[in-house]
Amino acid sequence: MKKLLILLVMLGLPAGAFAAGGHKSCGAIECDPVKIDLGDQASLQRGARIFVNYCLSCHSAGFMRYNRMGKDLGISEELVKDNLLFAADKVGDLMKAVMPKDDARRWFGVAPPDLSLIARSRKPAWIYTYMRSFYRDGKSPSGWNNTVFPHVAMPHVLYEWQGDQRAIFKKDEHGAEVLERLEIERVGSMQPQEYDRAMRDLTNFLVYLGEPAKLVRYQIGIYVLIFLAVFLVFAYLLKKEYWKDIH
Ligand code: HEC
Repeated sequence: MKKLLILLVMLGLPAGAFAAGGHKSCGAIECDPVKIDLGDQASLQRGARIFVNYCLSCHSAGFMRYNRMGKDLGISEELVKDNLLFAADKVGDLMKAVMPKDDARRWFGVAPPDLSLIARSRKPAWIYTYMRSFYRDGKSPSGWNNTVFPHVAMPHVLYEWQGDQRAIFKKDEHGAEVLERLEIERVGSMQPQEYDRAMRDLTNFLVYLGEPAKLVRYQIGIYVLIFLAVFLVFAYLLKKEYWKDIH
């Protein structure tokens, strides 16, 4: 019994450590947690729509093809063609950025990075918090700044949805300016909860983008568990059969 308990604790430990990873620091502030659910197909579809419409103009997702994405997310080839194919000609094309890299570098000073693996290098909570932390800053070239990524060269491309945010700073005990909070100055076309939900969908999609095979693995995982459950019954019956003369 004791051994069993120890085993259970050992199995539980890594899960606990993993869960704690959700609150990774976002620069000077704490990341807001985000619920990632790759089983939520509607959320992934909404995220894909935002990504293709608002991010692919500058960023690429060079490891993904439109038709693969459509198949994975349950979007028919016609719908992909009619609604998601702005930056390419064929559904079999890779998701390249509309803007040539050299132009982007000239305009922004840095080339917008490929976002295929961003949810793995930056973590979902970071992306979710980043997309909600742009604020107006007259001193920056784009007119925008970000509390998670200070002096970021990316403008706030979704400001029409979120509205304008401003940052309120306070002085800490050493006299240095620290962020107190962000405040919506002018409401956009979305309410804050609506905008948060859209950013959760977008983050969910970026997690899928980072590891598309995860969806397949989830499916296989369920079958494996069903198999193991059925197998357990037979194994138990067999064990009883073997031991019946001895007991
Ligand atoms: C107008 C061009 C443009 C658009 C549109 C755009 N971005 Fe960016 N993005 C940039 C640039 C430029 C950078 C590099 C910023 C830097 O390094 O200072 C960047 C950086 C980023 C980063 C940080 C990458 C890192 O270094 O870790 C993320 C995440 C990101 N963008 C996500 C998005 C998402 C999601 C969208 C769609 C909603 C989007 N971007 C739309 C230009 C753009």
